[in-house]
Amino acid sequence: MSSRLAGKTAFVTAAGQGIGRATAEAFAREGAHVIATDLNTDLLADLRGNAQYTLEALNALDAAAIAEAGLRHPNVDILFNAAGFVHHNTVLTCTEDEWDFAMNLNVRSMFHTTKAFLPKMLERGNGSIINVSSGASSIKSAANRFVYGTSKAAVIGLTKAVAMDFIKTGVRCNAICPGTVESPSLRDRVSALAASTGKTVEEAEAMFVARQPMGRLGTADEIAAAALYLASDESRFTTGTHMVVDGGWTL
Ligand SMILES: NC(=O)c1ccc[n+]([C@@H]2O[C@H](COP(=O)([O-])OP(=O)(O)OC[C@H]3O[C@@H](n4cnc5c(N)ncnc54)[C@H](O)[C@@H]3O)[C@@H](O)[C@H]2O)c1
Repeated sequence: MSSRLAGKTAFVTAAGQGIGRATAEAFAREGAHVIATDLNTDLLADLRGNAQYTLEALNALDAAAIAEAGLRHPNVDILFNAAGFVHHNTVLTCTEDEWDFAMNLNVRSMFHTTKAFLPKMLERGNGSIINVSSGASSIKSAANRFVYGTSKAAVIGLTKAVAMDFIKTGVRCNAICPGTVESPSLRDRVSALAASTGKTVEEAEAMFVARQPMGRLGTADEIAAAALYLASDESRFTTGTHMVVDGGWTL
């Protein structure tokens, strides 16, 4: 373990798997105490008994629970907002329910977590908020990702607004925009693509890989490395950015 985050406390949403998990582990490896939360606490079970983690159930759609977590954890220096969901739709097929769910989970949750943890960061004059957006956002379109891209574009707007309003306080807010990253939910999307196109799972995966100019998927650890930089004091002059980590997808 090295110590880029020694003495810091991080709060991570959707830490059960994928980018949230890889980031929680990277933060812990660098010395942070990590409050690892997820809707599904079974996914956190393997971290039980490790003193570097506090494990909690948290539904990122639950504003009251988020506010309460903010009160219970006044020492959070790093907020990592990973919770998000990918719908497959166009403007014509997106339902009201899909719109509400995506905007609530992908964006509104960040509004609530930021409101919950920012005040204490401001009191201390130090903090780093990191929001997971996507290349599919205001940066680039992706077919059949209407509400997803809309919500992830809003994440970039939210990030810049927070960064600007607190620019002189020592609290920074940045977004990360991953390309296509290997994760359990990506596996679900590959299966869904195979089912909807009549292709094999291997052929569907090849379609996801084909959109990555580097010719491969990213790893959650590669996104966590960017998160680690943004969480640490090494990035103290960086705020309001949307850091693209995408294997050239948006090039
Ligand atoms: N994987 C990719 O290719 C990719 C690309 C760009 C952006 N992202 C974004 O990265 C983030 C993580 O995605 P991933 O693919 O790494 O992980 P994932 O989708 O495989 O895992 C999502 C995690 O979120 C948890 N979760 C679901 N609903 C929740 C809720 N209401 N409250 C709290 N937790 C909840 C799940 O239990 C799970 O642990 C998402 O915001 C996603 O949009 C992913």
